Amino acid sequence: MKHIYLDNSSTTKVLNEAAQAVFDTMTSYFGNPSSLHRIGIEAEKIMKEARENIAQVLGVNPAEIYFTSGGTESNNWAIKGAAKALCRKGNHLITTEIEHPSVLEAVRALEKEGYSVTYLKVDKEGVIDLDQLEKELTPETILVSIMYVNNEVGSIQPIQEAAQIITLPRYL
Ligand SMILES: Cc1ncc(COP(=O)(O)O)c(C=O)c1O
Repeated sequence: MKHIYLDNSSTTKVLNEAAQAVFDTMTSYFGNPSSLHRIGIEAEKIMKEARENIAQVLGVNPAEIYFTSGGTESNNWAIKGAAKALCRKGNHLITTEIEHPSVLEAVRALEKEGYSVTYLKVDKEGVIDLDQLEKELTPETILVSIMYVNNEVGSIQPIQEAAQIITLPRYL
């Protein structure tokens, strides 16, 4: 029987080359990159190269790349970290009603701590309304967290347009 996989918004099959690279690294360069012995130093070199490659692809500084265990840890770290770091500037966050639980639970935890959160609605195609986003921005807004592609229905949010609105000088 021929199988057709249609859940790529949720999880996509890893490229063979990527899986091979992970396998090679985990079996040949398994040292602790903080250790001073040869295997550790080799592991550190591999990590440094990976960090530089990823930074180059993303057009960012290698020091801005952090390796985490996955999406839930990353979302918690980014959302709670940003909210705490910017709490003196304001206490308002914006996200959408259709975020993954790892985002929704993180902002709900912040709500319990006293932050105020706006949940943008989506239309029948699962897409946010940019006018609503602009209306909800206030001088108190310190973080806007919008998923690019929804993991359940695959709707794609207008991220570049949203970023342009958020970075208008009047909101900075
Ligand atoms: C959009 C989205 N965010 C976050 C996660 C959580 O990722 P992880 O399972 O790596 O913690 C998932 C998992 O499917 C996801 O689809």
